[in-house]
Amino acid sequence: MEQSNISPIIIALDFHKPELALELVEKLENKRCRVKIGKELFTCGGPTLVEKLVCKGFEVFLDLKYHDIPNTVASACSVAADLGVWMLNVHALGGYDMMLAAREAVDKHAKQPLLIAVSILTSLEQNDLAAIGLQGTIESNVLRLAKLANSCCLDGMVCSPLEITSLHNSLGNNFKLVTPGIRPVITDDDQKRTMTPIQALQNGADYLVIGRPITASPNPLQALLDIERSIGDFM
Ligand code: C5P
Repeated sequence: MEQSNISPIIIALDFHKPELALELVEKLENKRCRVKIGKELFTCGGPTLVEKLVCKGFEVFLDLKYHDIPNTVASACSVAADLGVWMLNVHALGGYDMMLAAREAVDKHAKQPLLIAVSILTSLEQNDLAAIGLQGTIESNVLRLAKLANSCCLDGMVCSPLEITSLHNSLGNNFKLVTPGIRPVITDDDQKRTMTPIQALQNGADYLVIGRPITASPNPLQALLDIERSIGDFM
């Protein structure tokens, strides 16, 4: 039987050229991690690159955070599912009808990717919320959006590791939690709601999205190995 991927690590391949992503991927084992293609890499590499990574046996998270009218998002999700990705996402702020349309579109596919929603970006802090017209705490906003996504039968949510406990308490453990904002050491960058890999997993994260701590390291493979060692029992 084919060995399944047991690692919770999803490497964010945030590169400006497909060749740079492929160079790193060549050194990775497809059962040792998953990979994420976001807006930067998709804009330069497109669906061809997605299919290339799928063909190499990688489980690909297509992180394009679709946020548009329901018909457009449903069609985009359907095309993404055709690419054979393992996971894709929409933005919960797109609302109930949009998420439901995405769910229905994905459900029509024989091989369905996990469909998750993005909540409040991990680069935002409490004082950013008022400026975008959101009241209440970050945690209450994330919880409200997670409940909305759950009511549309989405498979889970992208959130910061700080919100894991309240989401699990409210929605149970089947609702998958995918957490960016992972920093093995404290780093002053655009991510604000952060935790170390082991703290996030101990809190109950299902998957960790890790970009720059690996990709910007002088030795990405060693950085990955160090993170794997740090999470020991969770591998
Ligand atoms: O380099 P870093 O570890 O910060 O990468 C985090 C990745 O996760 C980036 O690709 C970013 O686009 C993505 N992401 C995020 N916050 C979200 C959703 C996705 O940081 N809420």
